[in-house]
Amino acid sequence: MTSQIASARAHTNIALIKYWGKKDQQLMLPMNGSLSLTLDHFYTDTTVEFNSIYTEDTFYLDQKKIETTKITPFLDLVRQMNPQVGFARIYSSNHVPNAAGLASSASAFAALALAASTAAGLNLTRRELSRLARRGSGSATRSIYGGFVEWQPGTSDLDSYAIPIDEKVDWDIEMLAVIIDRQQKKISSRTGMQRVVTTSPYYPAWITSTNQDLSAAIQAVKEHNLQLLGQLAESNALRMHALNLSARPPFSYFEPASLVAMEIIEKLRSEGICCYYTLDAGPNVKVICSKAESPQIIRALSTAFTPEQIVEAFPGPGVKLIEC
Ligand code: PMV
Repeated sequence: MTSQIASARAHTNIALIKYWGKKDQQLMLPMNGSLSLTLDHFYTDTTVEFNSIYTEDTFYLDQKKIETTKITPFLDLVRQMNPQVGFARIYSSNHVPNAAGLASSASAFAALALAASTAAGLNLTRRELSRLARRGSGSATRSIYGGFVEWQPGTSDLDSYAIPIDEKVDWDIEMLAVIIDRQQKKISSRTGMQRVVTTSPYYPAWITSTNQDLSAAIQAVKEHNLQLLGQLAESNALRMHALNLSARPPFSYFEPASLVAMEIIEKLRSEGICCYYTLDAGPNVKVICSKAESPQIIRALSTAFTPEQIVEAFPGPGVKLIEC
């Protein structure tokens, strides 16, 4: 019996300029570049053990055995790089305050990429890890790095990866997550984004405007310009959700409570507080703001949401190996 084991921790990331559509579904090549912030509070720990006695891959999430079709094709990519390793047992735990809500495939596949490749004896560079993580979930491409991260779309497997823009964020930025629903998404991101690519008449305009947003947002990060970054992130998110409404059949991730949170943020802004929101493939609202102003924003959100629904998060680190 030969056993090879490794554990890794990866943090989730929230896109400020979104990835929403693929040009190659198999290689997971995105239509456009994106920009995200990796967060400290939300992460996944994953242990991978390849063992010659195993006869199949088995996946445990938070100590429960889970049937999924996503793990084996991903581990097959690792086995292609080292055909000596056999099947694996994978143990993952998601660390998010109050369980679920923000658990993300980004942290899951970034942690799996590092744990599995290390257990298989491969010593991948961060760029190679980013390319590997991409094959599990697009947003995982960016969770290899900490802080602000750009995913360059590329044209092939070789040149579609993330690069760090500002890994050790030393300026005043924070993200408040308003947890509205912990349920599974109504429409998976995979299905939703593909539907807009094939049916929304606005899709070409999305690509043009997102490319412009991306360059401006990278510049805003470099200049530590929170207001400009927030403006760009909010309008980019609203355009992504407008694509969903313009698809056939149309769909939306908003819940009534999402609109309540968005209105609170807009009102605070009209009172001179620098805060902006973004939403992904679900109803939760994430607020971009400064640490200095977050107490006032939390107070305003508390008129409509419980303390458990409002979670503070700060820039977090990239993927790393941890003790098994
Ligand atoms: O990587 P996926 O399949 O979880 O898709 C992520 C899509 C968004 O979160 C909405 C945007 C993004 O860039 O992360």
